Amino acid sequence: MKIENIFKNLTILLVFGLLISKINAGVVKPAPANPNALVLGFMSPYFDPEYIQYSGAAEYAISQYNETFKTKYGKTITLYKFEDGNDIIDSLNLVTMPVNGIVGPAYSGTSSTACLVFGAFSVPSISFYATGASLSNSGSYPFFQRVMPDDRLQVRAIISLLKKNGWSRVSCVHTNEDYGNGGADQLVQQSNAQGITVNTNQAINPIDSTYTPPQSDYDIVFDNLIAAKARVIVLYALFPPDCLSIWNQAKKRGFLGEGFTWIVTDGCAELTGGNDEDLAGILATFPSYGLGTQKYANFEKTIVTDYNNHSGDAFYKGASFSYDATIAMLMGIEAVLANGGDPWDGEQVKTQLRSLKFQGITGTVAFDKETGDRLYGEFALLNLINSTKGSFDPIGSINPESGDIALSRDILYSGPTFKVPSDYQVIVFDRTLNIVLGVITGICVLIVIGIGLVIVLQWRKFRYSSPLFCMFIIIGALMGLASVFTLLPTPTTPLCSSFPWLLGLGYVIVFGTLFTKTWRTWRLFSNARKFKIIRISNQYIITLVGAFVLLESIFMILWTAIDRQLPLAVPIFKAGEAQLQCTSDSEAWWYVFVFYKVFYILFGVFLAFKTRNVVDSLNESKPITLALYNLTFVMVVAIALGFILRDNPIAIIVIQTIAILLGFTVTVSVLFLPKVWMIISGQQHSMDSIGTSMDSMGRSNGNTTEAESTRGYTNKDYNNQSVGRSFSAHATGFKDVAPSNHPQLGIVYTGGDSFPRVGSQTAASRSEAEINVSQDVLAKANKKNESNESSSTPSENNI
Ligand SMILES: *[C@@H]1O[C@H](CO)[C@@H](O)[C@H](O)[C@H]1NC(C)=O
Ligand SMILES: *[C@@H]1O[C@H](CO)[C@@H](O)[C@H](O)[C@H]1NC(C)=O
Ligand SMILES: *[C@@H]1O[C@H](CO)[C@@H](O)[C@H](O)[C@H]1NC(C)=O
Repeated sequence: MKIENIFKNLTILLVFGLLISKINAGVVKPAPANPNALVLGFMSPYFDPEYIQYSGAAEYAISQYNETFKTKYGKTITLYKFEDGNDIIDSLNLVTMPVNGIVGPAYSGTSSTACLVFGAFSVPSISFYATGASLSNSGSYPFFQRVMPDDRLQVRAIISLLKKNGWSRVSCVHTNEDYGNGGADQLVQQSNAQGITVNTNQAINPIDSTYTPPQSDYDIVFDNLIAAKARVIVLYALFPPDCLSIWNQAKKRGFLGEGFTWIVTDGCAELTGGNDEDLAGILATFPSYGLGTQKYANFEKTIVTDYNNHSGDAFYKGASFSYDATIAMLMGIEAVLANGGDPWDGEQVKTQLRSLKFQGITGTVAFDKETGDRLYGEFALLNLINSTKGSFDPIGSINPESGDIALSRDILYSGPTFKVPSDYQVIVFDRTLNIVLGVITGICVLIVIGIGLVIVLQWRKFRYSSPLFCMFIIIGALMGLASVFTLLPTPTTPLCSSFPWLLGLGYVIVFGTLFTKTWRTWRLFSNARKFKIIRISNQYIITLVGAFVLLESIFMILWTAIDRQLPLAVPIFKAGEAQLQCTSDSEAWWYVFVFYKVFYILFGVFLAFKTRNVVDSLNESKPITLALYNLTFVMVVAIALGFILRDNPIAIIVIQTIAILLGFTVTVSVLFLPKVWMIISGQQHSMDSIGTSMDSMGRSNGNTTEAESTRGYTNKDYNNQSVGRSFSAHATGFKDVAPSNHPQLGIVYTGGDSFPRVGSQTAASRSEAEINVSQDVLAKANKKNESNESSSTPSENNI
């Protein structure tokens, strides 16, 4: 509460303390001149344009009861209207007139003083537009009732709306008087209790005929809104001119339009002249005034045609409340009369009022027994949709007790857009950074495609590997790299869904292929002593990789179907800022997505470790192990950093991109680049001719070619080329061993020499990577000096 308000209230209390002591000393409410001439006082600012309809509604209510009073009780009842000027004088005049009850005062400001007087003189009053929460104090206002739901309920309705949209931070601007201050206090109190932060609370003096706040006051308000990064702003202002003036300033400061949500309360809901296009999408709450019911339709017609001498005026919503307030007062007085009581006894009227329950224009009307507050309040949700029309349209209702919101159409937000805006300042991705990341990714993609092309064009030089092995690695890596391109642009729903699909499938294809090779090596290793022959067929690779892909797809289908990722503004490390990120309702999907891959890796690394001795002797196993270690390292570091830097999406995007680039590009490079480099740089040439010659004739006889005789083989060649190795087998006498026999371990590759073709079983089976276990082959080769054809194409294949 503001200091000046406290002073004001203290002064009023002191004055009334004196007054009330005087009353107790003998100053009492005078007896009525004619007890049968009942009078209701009507209190509302007469200069307001709404006044005629408000008072007209009260007169209309009386005209419906005056016959009953006359015929049943022999009493007349009239409405006493006057041009009010001074709250205290007017209310003193009313109570000493005297009157049976008062309809009004209309607003919280007047009510807060006038109702002290009414309380002191035991005159019941029913405010029809006062929402101030301070009026609920039954100690200061013992004879106060109201048909307008109070600010407590209105704020509750606003908070229902905030919660529905998932907003947890809100700013408040209010006019600096009882209504605005009280509403803002309520907003702060209730928000805190609901875990919603009010990040700034700004006051501005209300506009009236003689006063407009200076520009510097507005500047302070908006400077503070900017500092708080306000996005959802509740404007608790007294009248439409206050709101229009603030929105005028808001437009200048860039606080209207997409990303900014203004919610106004009943004070500004009677808006006219909201014709600026940028105002479209503003929301308002207003206590339900009956719209949509037959009762209301008839009532509105009567008021606008019979009780409105400003022909052409629209209906003022407050008239519904003025009518219900008058009806309530009449019913209360009638109930006293029906009981044979005295309608001039305020206590009796008040008691009857607080036991009423009836269907008014504004819904079920009843009063709280303790405070006189309206019970069963419901709020309409209004939306400024048509700026040509310049006023709000009702689009739904809010029940503040239950928090239920029923909408008859989608809410239009500023922009205008139907998309729920964020309560944070949404920052966009750093374009330069993302372009740089995109270019780096593009280079990696080109490298991988280049390696893939070399493999396809120079297939024979890679023939010790299964062609499927190479193809799967390249395809998987390309899918994985493609996922980066779904990560870099501003997130959209399709991009958000594609990222885990591409990354996941790319990953399991690459990993599954590597795993198949390692698994085979492990089987080889563990079966070596059993003299068994291990063969790896394309079918085997396809089955294993297929199993990984199937598992991944099942998971991804579940994820996409149940809780697909959607772009959402997520708060980041800078207070008040958010960034669009792909998010699912549950983070568990990501954890599962990552952690079962970690499990794969651990298993792969375990196998690689178990086969480390074999690894050294096999051309491919060393790079495969390296690739696995690389994947492990990248994932472990990326995950660890990812969790540490959770709030920093820029860091996360850089880490994710680098992890994906490292994971896939390094895998492909480690596996293929040395050989590709040798081919490109021409070092491969002579070996190629050996390989070719051996392919053509190496099997049946060990004739040396020109290359063999003219070129000396270095250790490097041995280490890098299976062909070289197999040649050494030849050179040391294993003439009849297949070209790629490994002499030390006797492991034999007979890599396919053509890509498998669809529907061509023979081609596929010929390209199988065959491995023969050492001792078996060696023994046969040494003893029989025969072709090992029979043992290298055995029918009792393992695995
Ligand atoms: C009741 O009010 C109506 C409308 O103001 C008026 O025409 C009628 O004469 C009144 N009846 C009595 C009994 O005062
Ligand atoms: C409208 O009614 C008010 C009183 O209800 C009266 O003072 C005023 O002259 C009327 N205006 C017109 C244009 O009839
Ligand atoms: C907007 O309001 C104007 C003025 O009331 C009306 O003429 C127009 O038809 C409305 N436009 C729409 C789309 O409802």
